[in-house]
Formats: sequence, structure tokens, C-alpha cells
Amino acid sequence: MRIVVLDDAQAVARFGADTIGEQLSAKPESVLGLATGSSPLPLYQELISDYQAGKISFKSVRTFNLDEYLGLPGDHPQSYRHFMNKQLFNEVDIDLDNTEVPDGMSKNPLAFCAAYEERMKQAGGVDLQLLGIGRNGHIGFNEPSSSLVSRTRVKTLTRDTVEANRRFFAPGEFQPHLAITMGIGTIMEARSILLLATGTDKAKAIAEAVEGPISASSPGSILQMHAKVTVVVDREAAQELK
Ligand code: F6R
Repeated sequence: MRIVVLDDAQAVARFGADTIGEQLSAKPESVLGLATGSSPLPLYQELISDYQAGKISFKSVRTFNLDEYLGLPGDHPQSYRHFMNKQLFNEVDIDLDNTEVPDGMSKNPLAFCAAYEERMKQAGGVDLQLLGIGRNGHIGFNEPSSSLVSRTRVKTLTRDTVEANRRFFAPGEFQPHLAITMGIGTIMEARSILLLATGTDKAKAIAEAVEGPISASSPGSILQMHAKVTVVVDREAAQELK
């Protein structure tokens, strides 16, 4: 595991964008695994700037997102499909048909999850998986106690995660407690993984993932078993590392 500690969130974003840029110049038809949430937002801004400056192109890229709320249609402002279109896809030259986000309105989520895995396999597997980490150590929506070999499936979100994400929903608005998420086993099949975390409220999750025992109570800790992981954190998120 490579740990990179940088001064602030902006430097983390720049490092992440450079890593993705290197991946795309080495393999323009890369398959990227993508995440939503606050952590990758500045990185997506950097990628858009790089695209506008003519430094990168997403023309041949395929993407698979980690997760989506069950019960939200793709045009709902809090859906992860909406987030990805707004924060990245609509701003670069990617073909939207080459972008996949789990279908939160699927009539048969179990069959959908199996088909999602199959499409990832047929695309040749994920070359670079981008991850954030939850305050409770989750990756994707694989909450603590998730099987470390799990596949794409429906998960119930913990109270902590629902609480952490409440900020995105209006008071009284329906907030899903279920999500479709890539499994931990699915994530571990990516050829390389880039995990970003910033801010003090991620310090404990980062220390447990990087230095703690490998345990289902801290899903991110399984990344210690992956051959090519880079964890990029700012000083605040690094503060509980030994
Ligand atoms: C998002 C995802 C989640 C987030 C995590 C951190 O697609 O899979 O695991 O990465 O909840 O969220 P932020 O970055 O908002 O703190």
C-alpha cells in the first residue's frame, strides 16, 4: 500500500487527477471505477480542467460507478447518476452510453446486480478504481460487517451512513436506506485502486484501514491485501496514522 500525505484537499485532488491522467495516457480505453460523495468532487473539477486544457480525453473510456441509492431514479437530484452526469460526464467528452451507474429503479435488483458484474467482466475488468471511505470505514456502500468477498448486491445502509448523507437531502425528503453497491470482492478485482480521504472526520477510518487488523468491522482494511493501492490523504485525514 502506498500512502501519500499531502497538505490539503486541493493537493489530494491534483494528485488524483494526475494518477487518472497517467492511466488514460497509458491506456486511452481504460475502464474506470468511479465514486460519488464529497471526496472525489475536487478531483472531478481537476479532470474537467485537464480536459478543457486538452490534456486528457475520455472518448474511449468506460466507467462503472460503485453504487446507487435504491428507489431513486437517475434524474433525481440526489441520485448518483445525476451526480455523475453533473459533476463529470456532462463536462467532458465521454460517451454517456459508456458510463454505467447501478439502476436504482431496477424492478429486479438481484438480476441487475448479476448483470452489472457481467458487464464489468465483459468490459475487461476495472483498470483503476477510485474510492472514498465512510467515517465508519465503508467502501462503496459495504458497511462494517460486510463480507470481505462480497459481490455487487443490495445493502442496507447503517444509521451512521444515513446520518452522514442527510446533508444532501431536504428536511422531510425521502432518503433511501437501501443501495446497490459493488461488493468488496468486486472492488478488490480492480487492477489498481486509488482511495482519497480528506478532513479530520476521516482520520479514524484511515488509521483503521491502513494500520488496523484486516477485519469486516473496517471494510477498507481489506485494501491491505491488494497489490496496487494508493491512499492519498490530507494532513487532517492522516492525523491518526502512526
Ligand atoms: C460513494 C461511495 C461512498 C463514499 C463514502 C465517503 O460512491 O461509495 O463509499 O465514498 O461514503 O463519502 P464522502 O466522500 O462524501 O465523505
